[in-house]
Amino acid sequence: MMLVYEGKAKRVYRTEDAAYRIEYKDEVTAGNGEKHDYMTGKGRLNNLISSGIFEYMKKHGIDSHYIERISETEQLVKPLDIIPLEVVVRNYAAGSIVKRLGLKTHQVMSPPLVEFFYKEDALGDPLLTDDHIAMLNLASVAEVAHLKEQALKINEVLKEMMEEMGLSLIDFKIEFGKDRDGVIMLADEISPDTCRIVDMESKENFDKDVYRNSTGSLIDTYSAFYKKMEALI
Ligand code: C5P
Repeated sequence: MMLVYEGKAKRVYRTEDAAYRIEYKDEVTAGNGEKHDYMTGKGRLNNLISSGIFEYMKKHGIDSHYIERISETEQLVKPLDIIPLEVVVRNYAAGSIVKRLGLKTHQVMSPPLVEFFYKEDALGDPLLTDDHIAMLNLASVAEVAHLKEQALKINEVLKEMMEEMGLSLIDFKIEFGKDRDGVIMLADEISPDTCRIVDMESKENFDKDVYRNSTGSLIDTYSAFYKKMEALI
């Protein structure tokens, strides 16, 4: 088994049959690595949640790199070349857009807003316009249009899933990759690490903001999220 990539929260290995094995680590970071902690059980929770979300997506017509969950902390996925773009969809304002544009937190984004960020830690993942993406040769004009369309489709399915759990989807980040035939597919992970999700009534956070803002236990928060998800799937 060969290690092909190690990120802040995951390791990716190539298996003998050319699939990739993703191992979710017991690590959490925020602010581009400024805040960093080890948390026993975090990898398991992210893997269980992300697997459940990818399975829900599949049932609702959204293909992804996910093949199957092979252990408490690992998934088998299709090998893709990751497009170095972080695609963010926002239903309500929160986080960086509040600071950047002076919006009110939880102000409605109607229609949902799609943003692209350059996946480049050394540059602090800057916001990109369509023209930046073309200039940097990261994706063609047609591919950018396709990514936007897919991101909005994924938003509809994820929003519905969260609503069925009594939760409201504020925003999320996804990544895409290309397979050997150039087909673009949803990749990486979808979990409370990559989404902002709040209780519909109390507005309590069920996501990494509890760690970013030091307002609660990340493990307790993700466990509570997983319990709600288990009741649904
Ligand atoms: O920081 P910002 O407000 O732009 O984040 C928007 C959404 O994207 C949040 O749900 C956040 O968790 C997610 N995100 C992420 N990875 C990053 C940046 C943002 O998962 N590197």
